[in-house]
Amino acid sequence: MKQHNRPQASPFVASLLGLAATIAFGSFAVSCGLDPVHDGAVKALGDEDPAVPQGPYHRAGQPCNVCHDVQGPAENKFALSGTIFWGPNLQIGVDQAYVRIVDANGAKKCFVTNCVGNFFVRPEQVPKLTFPILVSVEKAPNYRAMAGRIGRERACGNCHKQPRFFDSPGQIRLVNSESEVPAEGKAAFKQCNVSVDPPNLVCPEDQDQ
Ligand code: HEC
Ligand code: HEC
Repeated sequence: MKQHNRPQASPFVASLLGLAATIAFGSFAVSCGLDPVHDGAVKALGDEDPAVPQGPYHRAGQPCNVCHDVQGPAENKFALSGTIFWGPNLQIGVDQAYVRIVDANGAKKCFVTNCVGNFFVRPEQVPKLTFPILVSVEKAPNYRAMAGRIGRERACGNCHKQPRFFDSPGQIRLVNSESEVPAEGKAAFKQCNVSVDPPNLVCPEDQDQ
């Protein structure tokens, strides 16, 4: 089996990292490369798109946490992650959509998507995040809420897979058909420059008065 090209941490460091990961994520850490199921899940996502740098815009629609979680291979871990699309079929991301969550303790947080529709939440942004969580997505005047609660899954894309079918709700979308996608939404996506860092935007409720 092919190994990851990644320096192996010493067992001591690895156990410390594992402990930190266990505390941070409340789940058990398994070292990279030791779990064939995880390795397979990572490989199944394929290579990087050469047109998109490895960063905030890459792999739109994919389950980011397959890589950005305790098992790696990404160094940076996310507490939640996903991509919001306009319609049900095309991968036209929604720029500056608000993704809101309410956790099991009633704590509310809101995150803003970048111009490919990606959002990701770092563990330090939500140190007390407690599942299950409720989620909704807004890009006024469009609003959608997920009826069910998310029990533990950190990647929206692990459930919201294409095609939409009995076993999948399909990609997260704001309108029901591609013909309803607003022209300005398409334009914003087309103008998205994946070589420029996304602006640091916050939701209306997090803006200073
Ligand atoms: C197949 C594995 C894989 C998937 C899936 C993946 N990434 Fe990454 N990503 C990486 C790797 C590897 C890096 C290099 C930096 C690192 O190791 O964290 C990276 C880097 C990044 C960075 C820059 C480092 C940082 O933390 O600021 C961001 C942001 C990022 N990815 C966001 C995402 C988002 C959002 C998704 C899902 C839409 C995603 N990634 C899906 C593997 C992946
Ligand atoms: C555990 C699987 C799962 C995860 C993880 C998940 N979803 Fe869902 N989602 C569903 C299912 C199933 C539905 C359809 C039934 C419902 O609304 O509960 C749905 C529906 C939705 C809807 C309503 C869709 C519509 O057409 O009205 C939105 C919006 C949504 N999800 C957003 C998200 C976001 C954002 C995330 C990540 C933070 C996420 N979901 C993570 C399973 C999931």
